Amino acid sequence: MTETLFTLRPAKDEDRAFLDAYCYAEGMDYLPNLENVTVAANSGDEAVGFIRIAIGANGIAHVNPVVVHSSWRGYHVGETLMEHAQQIYGELRLVARGSSKGFYEKLGFKACPWEEVDLSVTENCDVCTLVEECQPCPMKKSL
Ligand SMILES: CC(C)(COP(=O)(O)OP(=O)(O)OC[C@H]1O[C@@H](n2cnc3c(N)ncnc32)[C@H](O)[C@@H]1OP(=O)(O)O)[C@@H](O)C(=O)NCCC(=O)NCCS
Repeated sequence: MTETLFTLRPAKDEDRAFLDAYCYAEGMDYLPNLENVTVAANSGDEAVGFIRIAIGANGIAHVNPVVVHSSWRGYHVGETLMEHAQQIYGELRLVARGSSKGFYEKLGFKACPWEEVDLSVTENCDVCTLVEECQPCPMKKSL
């Protein structure tokens, strides 16, 4: 049933305003470009969520970030975006916000050592003042 609610496609310039607004609402940096960004679009072709993949120096795909508009959460948009990325890139790594760790665990991600994520392509927690509150956790999942 959820397949009829949204479809996945590459991001395009017209999505920018939505994606910037979603990043702003979550206190995230704006996307540097739309490379490797996939959106979930509603029946009006508006982006209701997106995922961006950045390839680390280790050659491994890192999720940074995945965001779903608040009114669309709980409809498996995030899960569908993550599974699509995993089909394309195989192993995925990321730094989870503490509040989203349960989402990733539900998808089969496991905590991993900090050394296994490339902080140059993820949120850099070393320079963030909200680390104690956020409780970030490095995680990964292989196919
Ligand atoms: C995290 C986020 C992407 C999840 O997107 P979503 O579309 O609502 O998630 P889904 O509907 O695909 O959820 C898949 C499963 O994970 C569960 N889940 C979702 N968010 C969860 C959370 N924060 N904690 C625990 N479980 C969660 C869902 O209940 C669902 O379980 P089910 O299969 O038993 O129904 C979304 O909440 C979001 O955009 N959050 C703000 C941005 C953010 O924190 N992004 C991650 C940065 S690390």
